[in-house]
Amino acid sequence: MSEQTTKRPIIFSGIQPSGSITLGNYIGAIRNFVLLEKDYDCLFCVVDLHALTTRRIPADLRRQTLELAALYIACGLDPKKNIIYCQSHVPEHAELAWILNCYTYMGELGRMTQFKDKSARHKDNINAGLFTYPTLMAADILLYQTNLVPVGADQKQHLELSRDIAERFNGLYSDTFVIPEPYIPKATAKVYSLTEPERKMSKSDAEDSYIALLDKPDAIRRKFRRAVTDSEANICFDPEHQPGVSNLLSILSALGEGSVQSLVEGFEGKGYGELKDRTAETVITKLQPIQAEFERLMKDKTYLAQVLKENAARAQAQARRTLRKVYKKVGLYQL
Ligand code: TRP
Repeated sequence: MSEQTTKRPIIFSGIQPSGSITLGNYIGAIRNFVLLEKDYDCLFCVVDLHALTTRRIPADLRRQTLELAALYIACGLDPKKNIIYCQSHVPEHAELAWILNCYTYMGELGRMTQFKDKSARHKDNINAGLFTYPTLMAADILLYQTNLVPVGADQKQHLELSRDIAERFNGLYSDTFVIPEPYIPKATAKVYSLTEPERKMSKSDAEDSYIALLDKPDAIRRKFRRAVTDSEANICFDPEHQPGVSNLLSILSALGEGSVQSLVEGFEGKGYGELKDRTAETVITKLQPIQAEFERLMKDKTYLAQVLKENAARAQAQARRTLRKVYKKVGLYQL
C-alpha cells in the first residue's frame, strides 16, 4: 500500500499454505495479480491460521508458509508495491474474528457448504475452527476495509457471509466496515484437470491431474504425456466433445503461443503426442524463471524473513486502525 496514493481501491486475497500452487492458479489468478498493483492496493495473505483447521505436520506447515510467500514473489508480485504477509503475524486477524463470532449465527455457519463438505470428509476432526472458519475469513477481509476480493466459485458463499456480517455490524453501530465485493477478473483462460478434463485443475485432486508451479521438467513431461485426450485423432478446439485436447490448446494459447485458432491450424495433420510435447515444453520454459527465482529466494531466508516482517508491520498499521474502531463501537474499555 503506497503512502502517497491513499484512495485506491483495496484488494485482499488469501491463499492457504497447503501444497503447491497449480498451473491453473497461476494462469487464472496469480499471473494477473501482477497487473493489479498499478490500480489497486493489494494484500496477499498466506492464511496460516486457516490451515490449522485441518491437522498439519508442524514442520510442513512452517515450510509451506514460507514457500508460498516466496512463490508469490517469484511470480512477480513486488513486496514493496503489494503487502505480502502471513496471517498469524498480524494478531488483529484473530482478534477481529472473535468479535465477529459474536455477530454471526450458528445457523449461518451451519449452512456453509464448505463446512458441510469438510466435516463429512474429516469425521474424526470436526473442530470448532472448521465451523468458524468463515468468521476468520470475514475478519481478514474487513480489517483492511477491502473493496474487492478475488474469489473462485467455492469461496463465494463465504464472501456473501462476510458481507452479511459487515452489514449487520454497520447496522448496529453505524458505518464501520466497507462492504466487500467479489473481484471478477477480465476473462482469463480456465485450466482443466489433465486426467478428468471436464473438471477444473485442482491441487486437492490426484497429483497426476495437475501441474504444480514447482514441478520438475520430468514430472511435467510425464503428466502431459499421460493427459487424457480422446479417440478422435484430430486436433480441434471443441471443449464439449474434446475437452482434453481443448485444454492443452488453451494452455498453449494462455502461455503466449498464439490464438487457439492459429494453433489448431499449425497442428493440422499432427498427432496428440506432438500437441502434448509442445504443451509440456512450453510450460517448462515458462515456469523455469519462476522456479529459478523461487530457489534463489529460498536460499536467502534472511531476506524473506525481513520482507515478511516489514510487510506484516504495514498490514498491521491498517488492521489496528479498524480494530480500534470496532473495540470502541462495541463498548470495550480501552486504555
Ligand atoms: N478460504 C479461502 C480459500 O480456501 C482462503 C482465504 C482465507 C481467503 N481468507 C481469505 C480468500 C480472505 C479471500 C479473502 O481459498
